[in-house]
Amino acid sequence: MPTLAQNLKMWDGQYLWPHEGDEWSAQFGGTEAMWWFALYPRIHRFLPAPTILEIAPGRGRWTQFLKSHCQSMIGVDISEKCIEYCRTRFATETNLKFHVNDGSSLAAVPDSSVDFVFSFDSLVHAEREVIEAYLVQLERKLTPNGVGFFHHSNLGAYPGRVAIMRHYRRLPLAIRRRVLPQGGIESVLSIHTGWRATSMTAALFRQYCQQAGLKCISQELINWTRGRCLVDSISIFSRPNSPWDTKDAYLRNGEFVDVGRLTSRLAQLYCR
Ligand SMILES: C[S@@+](CC[C@H](N)C(=O)[O-])C[C@H]1O[C@@H](n2cnc3c(N)ncnc32)[C@H](O)[C@@H]1O
Repeated sequence: MPTLAQNLKMWDGQYLWPHEGDEWSAQFGGTEAMWWFALYPRIHRFLPAPTILEIAPGRGRWTQFLKSHCQSMIGVDISEKCIEYCRTRFATETNLKFHVNDGSSLAAVPDSSVDFVFSFDSLVHAEREVIEAYLVQLERKLTPNGVGFFHHSNLGAYPGRVAIMRHYRRLPLAIRRRVLPQGGIESVLSIHTGWRATSMTAALFRQYCQQAGLKCISQELINWTRGRCLVDSISIFSRPNSPWDTKDAYLRNGEFVDVGRLTSRLAQLYCR
């Protein structure tokens, strides 16, 4: 969980997009601050890239920045409404194309055409088979020197806490309130789940890359919102022996959210 059908229901229907996705940047001081202080430093060496593929752009929170760093860009999302929104939002930019997919297909993307594939704050909701399917296709879609940046779930690395949470959430609300009157189970277990995929881990990502003929060249395990558990991974991958394949780096960063507090303060000085 969550399944593709649940993702579609959520992002194409239930979720109201009150600020077109900018609402998720609040803890970093806004979308501009989050891009320049948290995301751009992590991808700067891959930009500019002639062709960028963004998987699951939503309403274009990162597209608005990525588009200035390429000649052409393709966005692929499971939500028809999000794709329609992006088409309207970026209507004047004829080098940007947007396609609805089924949650795992990259059929709309020509083979050997992608220099940089990016996904942030979306695939944390994708279970292992979705990540695997995207990687298998990306081996064909990437140019020889293409490189990828995926933000995905590592929640599966905490099976014990996930199981406790699952049992706890089945209890009636009145009992839950009595057991933990001051705060939720997430703060007691120091883990933020946030509708993350429970089957996905950083280790599986490395395995799927290898099986697909790709190489995971670095992983940064990060925490999110509440809790110290490293529930996400930012994984970078390319073809083996590409110019990017120079390191095999792994970082456990339990301060990702704390950095958000700093960028919020910096935003007051340096962002619009
Ligand atoms: C939380 S929103 C984030 C959107 C955008 N990345 C952002 O940061 O604002 C998640 C997006 O991922 C899309 N999505 C979820 N699962 C997907 C999948 N398997 N393939 C393509 N898009 C997916 C949803 O339709 C939605 O637009």
